[in-house]
Amino acid sequence: MNQPGQWARLIFLASKFAEGTLVLASLADASYRVHAMARINENFLKLQAGYLFPEIARRVNAFSDAEPEKTKRLIRCGIGDVTEPLPLAARTAMKEAVDELGERGSFRGYGPEQGYDFLRQAIADNSYQGLNVEADEVFVSDGSKCDSGNILDIFGVGQRIAITDPVYPVYVDTNVMMGNTGEGDESGQYGGLVYLPCTAENNFTPALPQEKVDLIYLCYPNNPTGTVATREQLEQWVAYAREHDAVILYDAAYEAFVQDPDLPRSIYEIEGARECAIEFRSFSKNGGFTGTRCAFIVVPKELTGSDGSGGRVSLHGLWARRHSTKFNGVSYPVQRAAEALYSSEGKAEISKLVEHYMGNAALLKSACENCGLDVYGGEHSPYVWVRCPEGVDSWAMFDRMLHEAQVVVTPGAGFGAAGEDYFRISAFNSRENVEEVCARLGAMLG
Ligand code: MLT
Repeated sequence: MNQPGQWARLIFLASKFAEGTLVLASLADASYRVHAMARINENFLKLQAGYLFPEIARRVNAFSDAEPEKTKRLIRCGIGDVTEPLPLAARTAMKEAVDELGERGSFRGYGPEQGYDFLRQAIADNSYQGLNVEADEVFVSDGSKCDSGNILDIFGVGQRIAITDPVYPVYVDTNVMMGNTGEGDESGQYGGLVYLPCTAENNFTPALPQEKVDLIYLCYPNNPTGTVATREQLEQWVAYAREHDAVILYDAAYEAFVQDPDLPRSIYEIEGARECAIEFRSFSKNGGFTGTRCAFIVVPKELTGSDGSGGRVSLHGLWARRHSTKFNGVSYPVQRAAEALYSSEGKAEISKLVEHYMGNAALLKSACENCGLDVYGGEHSPYVWVRCPEGVDSWAMFDRMLHEAQVVVTPGAGFGAAGEDYFRISAFNSRENVEEVCARLGAMLG
């Protein structure tokens, strides 16, 4: 190193080496960060557009911005949300429960995750009178929407799922999120699901699947078509499920609206259902609890699923484990309010509410019929399912109703490809609003 040029060259090389090391280090750091970044559940990317009701809200908001004057006369018959006041029996029980919590002696902290015994027993005794459902087979929750999605936690991924079409979108979307489906197509159907079309052509009666499926979603009275299943039809489903070792997820959230005492209100009215069915029920629609939040599911102790080696495992045990890990129970005042719905005052108030909404359904049904439309449901259900006028698809009908009559309905396509030619009108509203909707329907289509 006796020449200045050599020193300069050495310094130059050393600085290049350091630069290179820095570049390598930062590349390594960047790649580490890429790998360490929280990885998303890519199944969510398969979900199409928004969930139906937020998409409706988005369109209604856009209309409100564009037409503030017309928006003043808007009547919402889209989402099935109750409008009538909470029953007095429920409110009184809730207030008393709040007062109990205000005293050190009667204060309660965490309740049992599965629900307080007083409510589980009231449910078993009243909702399942004579059906051998035990109180400890009832799991109280904050809603059927959550329950019908959460239940997938106890089933393996890659199940073969059968759903009716049209269908309550939560069943589909939660299976997409779990990875039980392939990609969606332009009609909104997902690969891997077994769709069972229900249209006027088959009297809204889904055919039994041609292949073996593992889980079957049934909802009666049906959301959205408003149709009901007969005892014989449910017997066929139970027979299918038992033969194919499938589990029926039976959504009976609207059972209170069944008017005919011969129609089944619970899947457990069918012999053998305890070995193959879970039932979902809610206080939302009968007791007006959509904002109060209380529901329950029944998982019979006989019900089992299989593990990887063909062993049988109790679904009741799995659900109890899941519920106590992920849920801390519904609040005490709300459970006391739900219990009060089973008092004689509470039952009488529920009957009045059901009568009110069913009166609305009858008015909406006949208004649509008077306009020459084909109308289904509305007899044992608060939903009226209407075929769109010739040549009008369901979102176009939604837009027409919004822009021409300022009435929000639900487009059938939002419930599935087979709903494309239909729209749903919810009877959950005041009588005054329903009469106004009937008048506007007449003016628009009559
Ligand atoms: C509906 O309109 O379909 C229901 O209100 C939705 C729900 O109960 O979550």
